[in-house]
Amino acid sequence: MSQPKRISSTPDFYVGSVVPAEDLRFRDDFIRELWESILTHHLILKAPRRCGKTSVMEHLRATPQHGYSVIYENVQDLTHPADLFLAILDNFRDQHPNLFHALVKGWETVTSWLPKVEEVGYGGVKTKFREHVKDYREHWRDHGEALFRQLRSLKRPILIIVDELPDMLINLKKEDPKLLRDFLSWFRDKRCDPLPKKDNVRWLLGGSINLSSTLDGMSLLDRINDLKDLPLPDLTPRQIETFVREMLEARLVEFEQKVPSRLRELLGRPIPLFLQMLTQDLFRSWRNQPRKIKKADVEIEFGRFVTSTAAQDKLQHYYTRLAKYYEEPALSQAHEMLNHLCLTVEKAGKDEGASRATLMQIAESAYPPGKLPPVHERKRLFLQLMRDLENDFYVIEIAEGRYGFASGIMKAWWRKHYA
Ligand SMILES: Nc1ncnc2c1ncn2[C@@H]1O[C@H](COP(=O)(O)OP(=O)(O)O)[C@@H](O)[C@H]1O
Ligand SMILES: [Mg+2]
Repeated sequence: MSQPKRISSTPDFYVGSVVPAEDLRFRDDFIRELWESILTHHLILKAPRRCGKTSVMEHLRATPQHGYSVIYENVQDLTHPADLFLAILDNFRDQHPNLFHALVKGWETVTSWLPKVEEVGYGGVKTKFREHVKDYREHWRDHGEALFRQLRSLKRPILIIVDELPDMLINLKKEDPKLLRDFLSWFRDKRCDPLPKKDNVRWLLGGSINLSSTLDGMSLLDRINDLKDLPLPDLTPRQIETFVREMLEARLVEFEQKVPSRLRELLGRPIPLFLQMLTQDLFRSWRNQPRKIKKADVEIEFGRFVTSTAAQDKLQHYYTRLAKYYEEPALSQAHEMLNHLCLTVEKAGKDEGASRATLMQIAESAYPPGKLPPVHERKRLFLQLMRDLENDFYVIEIAEGRYGFASGIMKAWWRKHYA
């Protein structure tokens, strides 16, 4: 009998695109945990951008468990609940064409103009729905309720992944705060009746931004308190070093033992995208000039990376998003604190950071003249801001009461551009 041949394949670098399920590493335990939680809860999967959320979602979609059919959509640019429902409908049609007939069976709003589903091309359901149901936005509740009803009538496990929902909610807030309130209340009620355990439909909502402050400010935090919060874990120091070692070894690169750990130190809190980019840079530098890669080479590549245009594109995002999601005076306070933190000294490869007291002073001096709130309120707002900055990956508590930039790359970049 012939043995199956071993295919030795070199893993690819992924620098920005979604990592396909077969190449996704270090996430097995987390994905197992996700599937277990899905059995009993609706979930929210949180992590800043470029940490690997969509890749995990893609894994759920490509290799579903427990008999689930998974529908994925990214709703980052949507501005209305009705468009969320249409996105789900459209993606259902694209991702599960065989089930689509059963989904819309008896749903007259759709079946009246959709006699032959086969004739509708990619993205076509949404367009046709809008054409035929002119006031589809006005009656968003009716359409949403119909969608829930139809999904439930399938009587089989359905997992709906809604990526970047917080962005859509922020869009709603800007356009129509009342609609945001109405939608959040309506959506929670629909999700929770019946209870998940008795429901065949599950929701996994993904987000790169932290909604807590926004919703808290509008007294809406209880509208998402049924969701089980599953933060995407950071890659561990060991996983990071394993990644560097294996990607280089697979390409026959010779390197000093210390190379993976030095790269890990420079990264700080690891944003997986930057891990990939930096490792790829090291590999390219070796390819241009084959030699044994040394610790000093890692430092040189790190310096180059921070000033490269490739990094510029990705890092600029972290700067701009502050302005998008942080409102004044928190925005100015965040800028002032980060401008301070990007200059803190490093001793023996470790950032000294700044004390909480120093940061609080900086925050207070950023209040506009005459607008200083009372002491207890200042303190509350400061703690809230620090929590947001931590959750959004800008800062990290490096020692009791001391904070520093979470990402070494971001710190170096910030210093270069904004100090
Ligand atoms: N498990 C992983 N191991 C290594 N790199 C990863 C991993 N997951 C994600 N990445 C890196 O992060 C990048 C962004 O992944 P993505 O899933 O789009 O993140 P997000 O949705 O959080 O923005 C990928 O292109 C890849 O460089
Ligand atoms: Mg994503």
